[in-house]
Amino acid sequence: MGKTNVGLIGLGTMGSALALNIAEHGFGLAITTLRPERVDRFLHEAGALADKLVGVKSPEEMVAVLTPPRSLILLVPAGKAVDSIIEAYTPLLAPGDTIIDAGNANFHNTRKRAKRLSEKGLHFIGMGVSGGEEGARYGPSIMVGGAAESYAPIRPMIEAIAAKFEDDPCADWLGPDGTGHFVKTVHNGIEYADMQLISEVYGLLRDGEGVSSGEVGKLFELWNERQLSSYLMEISAEILQTADPDTGTPIVDVILDKAGQKGTGRWTVIEALSLGQSASVIEAAVGARGWSADLEARVRGGVLFPHKKTTKERDLLFDRQDLEAALLAARIIAYAQGFQVLTATSDEYDWQVDMARVAEVWRAGCIIRSALLDDISDAFRMGLPDGRLLFAPAFQVALAKGSGAMRRVVAAAVMHGLPVPGFSAALAWFDTMRQARGTTNMVQAQRDFFGAHGFERLDKHGTYHGPWAQKLG
Ligand code: 6PG
Repeated sequence: MGKTNVGLIGLGTMGSALALNIAEHGFGLAITTLRPERVDRFLHEAGALADKLVGVKSPEEMVAVLTPPRSLILLVPAGKAVDSIIEAYTPLLAPGDTIIDAGNANFHNTRKRAKRLSEKGLHFIGMGVSGGEEGARYGPSIMVGGAAESYAPIRPMIEAIAAKFEDDPCADWLGPDGTGHFVKTVHNGIEYADMQLISEVYGLLRDGEGVSSGEVGKLFELWNERQLSSYLMEISAEILQTADPDTGTPIVDVILDKAGQKGTGRWTVIEALSLGQSASVIEAAVGARGWSADLEARVRGGVLFPHKKTTKERDLLFDRQDLEAALLAARIIAYAQGFQVLTATSDEYDWQVDMARVAEVWRAGCIIRSALLDDISDAFRMGLPDGRLLFAPAFQVALAKGSGAMRRVVAAAVMHGLPVPGFSAALAWFDTMRQARGTTNMVQAQRDFFGAHGFERLDKHGTYHGPWAQKLG
């Protein structure tokens, strides 16, 4: 390997895959890991690609083999591991060098780390990488945030290794400090929402109509050829048609219904709430994972409140066209909420994120890649009516048709006693966003009644208090 200025720390699943991707695109790379004995094994397994790699076993060695300005990519578990590597390398690096955290991180931590390092003349990039192991190896979507000048030296490499959408690299610098990591966080929030909505449709067919997993898989396969075309739809179809080798039954039928989560969905919701927003479909998805973990209580609840099917309810079937249209509408709403949180956060921190570019970077390589994202980027490029994705002409038909479908699906689900938190949240938001006169006039009156908080009136300007002692004649 000739001279390089890029090093990679962390040879876990994602780090290994990214290192091989970089080498395969002809870029030299120094590699190391927290367990140095893994370095030789990795080089051995890399085969011919090892020619582009140099294995090093200590921070001192890493810094010595790289030519300045150095860029060090970290692919280690979020939190303490990131901080301890920063601590080990900071005294060895020179002003102008850059540390790149390519794992999922809470953007508030990214901002703090960037500030700390900038005091020493070092750059810090928060880089969201999406697409799992396969993406990291053959083309992920990459969301970069940090000082623009620190991205310039690695830009050719990042664009080369990223997924392409019609030759356009799904990688870009999206804004300063925490932008890259926050864009990735919102990506994951939308991922949670989409996964939840797909799971709800699966549940309605399974529990409402007794449709087998394989049949639901075939239906999803069909939908994946139309407007719902997306990676998550594709893998859901495949998952549902996969057999468990032990029992011969569909594998989903033997998987415990207790969902895990590492925090990115929650971070999206927390940020939304802290800015007075509500990404309710994402929130429903995060909450549903939390509820699912309460398995013992759910079993007890089923005994205490058994569900008795009525004849009428048994006749309530789920129309397949309704389900498809409802899923598309709810997906649009989940994306719209995600972009709204991103817009609010970008405004709050003055990041000036180009939302069309975010949608473009998500069009290939990442977990939420979908046909819809191309329409979303076009909608942003054309300018959104009132700044709302929901009102973009491209989505009006899908929402007009899909909202009726969502209503019928939610109503039927409610009559079956089947929970659809994602769809219910999407529908409630949609109905709220088309209701010119809502009901918070009542909330305002209550606030004024007990706390003299004041309210505005429809008919005149200013802040008023209610004549609470005066009774209607
Ligand atoms: C991606 C994924 C990736 C990871 C999620 C899983 O974009 O490649 O989103 O980041 O699989 O973080 O998150 P949970 O464990 O919270 O579901």
